[in-house]
Amino acid sequence: MMPLPNPVTAKPLLVVVDDEAPVLKVIERVAGKAGYDVVTCGSGSEAMRVLMRRPADLAMVDLRMPDVNGLDLLRQIRGAVPGCEVILMTAYAAVDSAVEAIKLGAREYLTKPFDFDRLRRVLVETRVEIERRAQVVALESQVARQLEFCGMLGRSPSMQEVFSLIQRLAPHAKVVLISGQTGTGKELGARAFHQAGPRRGRPFVTINCSAVVDTLFESELFGHVRGAFTGAVDSKPGMFEAAQGGTLFLDEIGELPLSVQAKLLRALEYGEVQRVGSLQLKRVDVAVIAATNRDLRAEVAAGRFRGDLFYRLNVVEVVLPPLSERREDIPYLTAAFLRDAAQRMRKPLTGLTPAAERLLLNARWDGNVRELKNVVERACMLADGNLVSERELAGAFGPDLAQPLRSPDIAAKARIAPEKPAAPLDAIEREHILDVLRQVNGNRMAAAKVLGISRRALYRRLERHRLVDEAPPAGSLRRS
Ligand SMILES: Nc1ncnc2c1ncn2[C@@H]1O[C@H](COP(=O)(O)OP(=O)(O)OP(=O)(O)O)[C@@H](O)[C@H]1O
Ligand SMILES: [Mg+2]
Repeated sequence: MMPLPNPVTAKPLLVVVDDEAPVLKVIERVAGKAGYDVVTCGSGSEAMRVLMRRPADLAMVDLRMPDVNGLDLLRQIRGAVPGCEVILMTAYAAVDSAVEAIKLGAREYLTKPFDFDRLRRVLVETRVEIERRAQVVALESQVARQLEFCGMLGRSPSMQEVFSLIQRLAPHAKVVLISGQTGTGKELGARAFHQAGPRRGRPFVTINCSAVVDTLFESELFGHVRGAFTGAVDSKPGMFEAAQGGTLFLDEIGELPLSVQAKLLRALEYGEVQRVGSLQLKRVDVAVIAATNRDLRAEVAAGRFRGDLFYRLNVVEVVLPPLSERREDIPYLTAAFLRDAAQRMRKPLTGLTPAAERLLLNARWDGNVRELKNVVERACMLADGNLVSERELAGAFGPDLAQPLRSPDIAAKARIAPEKPAAPLDAIEREHILDVLRQVNGNRMAAAKVLGISRRALYRRLERHRLVDEAPPAGSLRRS
């Protein structure tokens, strides 16, 4: 989080305007003791000059001065320095000017000669009020500026809402449903819940429901006793027990078999679990966060998900919006991912070219934040120099990734080895270089141009990937 200026340590600024020097002196002394920084002015015009340069928190204005009427000056200050309180002072206590002053927004009306106690009291009360207001403003901007929450980044209003929802619910909620498309940060959100609540420091246990064989589910979640089924050679605690005191994250809950759903519902309702093969009930104190990228309501309607479990889980629902619905997060996330990747790869990257930025801003992002992160990392790997350009992005948009909405030429160039499954970055780079070399019949000058790197940079990569002396994969790979 960004550091905030501490509004409390800076003293409020008071500008005093009076044509009588002794009055200025008195106020300077009293206000100094009351905790103000004080600037004194002998005329209305001087005061306006000072105020335009340094907007004050409070102005004390004499009602009658040679160059200006105090009420006019009050009007000017209220117009030009929003938030500046004004106190009028006069030697000629007159009811109508007092009323007029208050109507115009003056805070107080003091008569001269001063009643020192009153003067002091008014100054202190005003200072307290100014500081309280500054604190409120600082807090508001702190909330608005919370661009990171327990590892989740986001500046869009929708993500800000997600942060504040998690922050408010984490201390109390025991069952939470997080929904959102793939790669929107559901797991990150679950961890944020755990971190922001009273269970931080206790276990966070994940079970991916799509990765468990149907017949083993019950034992995975609730454990089993020795001999409960073939292969149960020892008794074993389940995930619920492993998460005792902490959080159990049920990822892809939509994949949970119906038979296990009933048992999960029981565990949620009674806070008790029963190992497979045992008659004993064990109490567990576990927060359960379930995540899904399916529409569980539709699953309920289709009879694939139990309605009663859905309603039990759905007490608190956090919906993570798709990246395409919060495009203002794209530049911010990109910058963060680029900074991380550049640091890891020890590259002097500082940002993207404007064209590359536009490309990212307009892509489809079906794979959401995960896809953006992958693209940025791959581009970073391909990049040379200080800026990531469109060309590196073209190389970074993989076949398994969404194609950009615009720039079809880039999308076309981006198709890398479409038959290949996910591979380590290094392998992808090697493949991509080979592909490009094939396309340009082994002409390194041309390949470097397509790849958007210098010939020397290409040569270094060829050496690294041991491609220097390799026979041309197709056509003639000749040295240029
Ligand atoms: N708001 C975010 N700020 C920073 N990184 C994020 C954010 N959202 C997602 N990520 C990153 O994107 C990747 C995917 O996030 P995560 O695994 O939480 O998504 P998911 O919704 O669980 O996806 P899936 O449905 O495919 O399991 C992770 O590397 C995660 O760190
Ligand atoms: Mg996930």
